[in-house]
This record gives sequence, structure tokens and C-alpha cells, in this order.
Amino acid sequence: MNQEFGQSQMCRRQAEDWRRLPPGPAAQLPGVLYALACSLVNVFIPLHGLPMHFQRCLTLSESEKDKLLGWGKDIFNTEAFELTWRPKSEQLVLYDGDEPVSTCGLLRQHAELCTASLDVGGIGGVVTRPGFRGQGHAGRLLAEALRIFREEWQLDAGMLFCREALVAFYRERDWQRLEVPVRILQPSGTITCPTPVMVYPLHRPWPNGPVHIDSLPW
Ligand SMILES: CC(C)(COP(=O)(O)OP(=O)(O)OC[C@H]1O[C@@H](n2cnc3c(N)ncnc32)[C@H](O)[C@@H]1OP(=O)(O)O)[C@@H](O)C(=O)NCCC(=O)NCCS
Repeated sequence: MNQEFGQSQMCRRQAEDWRRLPPGPAAQLPGVLYALACSLVNVFIPLHGLPMHFQRCLTLSESEKDKLLGWGKDIFNTEAFELTWRPKSEQLVLYDGDEPVSTCGLLRQHAELCTASLDVGGIGGVVTRPGFRGQGHAGRLLAEALRIFREEWQLDAGMLFCREALVAFYRERDWQRLEVPVRILQPSGTITCPTPVMVYPLHRPWPNGPVHIDSLPW
């Protein structure tokens, strides 16, 4: 699980990138001006906090859990499905300055079709804190998750389970709903998934045919 990313770069990597002045015009400045510009960045960030950045960790801290998940009961509105869900293997958190505003869990899984076996990246538990919604945070989070799947984990597609009301939200972000039966595991055995299942192919079109996921949903 830890091999998927180096511990040293797991958290704060993106945050630290903000501290460097970009190459290009800034680097062309005469030495004194460049040093002055660097000092301004180093003063500005501690005073005003970090700008928007991602952090990755194995599990949320207690404070992150409280802020991101502690605002309600059945916050994903999934209790009615009566499914057993799979824990994710890592957590992606979007921070606005010092505040965690949005998170989702990530994992890897095989998806078996008649004609193909695909490695998919699972996304689950997408949530933005009330009060921070409608600002594109969940969209940014999904884009970063897909970047990780494509560039770091080199997977074939993203896959998620959602409720009917969210299908349009994901479709607007180019996710496709699977219109075929998707078989998943539950403690009672294999069942046809009762929720919409959405995929985001990363390299080639999603193949036709029923899908078998040898896993609990996530
Ligand atoms: C769904 C959710 C993650 C969106 O977060 P966000 O940061 O506000 O999302 P963005 O700002 O990127 O996008 C906002 C869009 O989501 C839509 N949206 C938000 N909640 C929605 C819902 N319950 N049903 C349908 N669409 C919804 C908004 O209408 C808006 O649409 P627009 O892009 O056409 O304006 C957030 O509302 C949330 O945390 N909901 C509770 C947890 C949940 O249901 N998670 C989904 C699990 S699959």
C-alpha cells in the first residue's frame, strides 16, 4: 500500500511547490530583484497561509475527519442501499490554505469483462464541507485523482459508485455511466450492484459487456 507513493512526498509535496518561484520571467530578474521576490513569497505564505493544495495520507487525521465528515449523519446518503463498503487505501484531501475543504478515498482494483481485464482506480467518499461547496473543489479533487491514476498508478480507468442524484454531476465532468450489470461482492455473496456505476476511461474506450468486480464496492 505504501509503495504506491513515497512517504516523503506523500503530504505537503504540492504545498511546497508553491513556495518556489516559477522559472521563466522571475528567473530572468537581476539577482537583487530575484532575491527580493523570493523574500516576498517567503513572507507572504507564512502570513497568509498556504494557497490551495493537495495532501495525501493513508487515513484522515481526527481533525480532518471532524471537519470533513463530522457535519451530519449518513452524509453520502447511502444507508438505504444496505451495502457493505470497502475502505479506501489512501485519502486525497484538498486544502484551501490551512482548511481541509474536500476529500475522497482512492484504491486500485481489477475489473473483469468478457473481453478484457482492466486495472481501475476506485474513487469513493467524495465530499466537500458545507460552506465550501459550489466553488469547484470536488471537480478539482476528481481531476487530481484521475491524474494520479493516469500518471502515477498507470491505470486503465477511474471507477466510482454513486447515487442516482449524482449521475449528472459526474457526467458533466465526462464520467460515463455503465449501462450493463456490474457484479460486486457482499458478505452474502455476489450481487448485481444496485447503485449507478460510473467510469472514466483514461487511454481507450471502455469495452462493452457485463462487468465483474471481485470486491466490495467503495
Ligand atoms: C457532491 C459534492 C461533493 C459537490 O462538491 P462541490 O465542491 O460543491 O462540487 P463542485 O463545486 O465541483 O461542483 C458543484 C456542482 O455539483 C452539483 N451538486 C452538488 N450536490 C449535488 C447533488 N446532491 N446532486 C446533484 N448535483 C449536485 C452542484 O449543483 C454544482 O453543479 P454545477 O457544476 O452545474 O454548478 C458536495 O455537494 C457534497 O459533499 N455532497 C455530500 C456528499 C455526497 O453526496 N458526495 C457524493 C458521493 S458520490
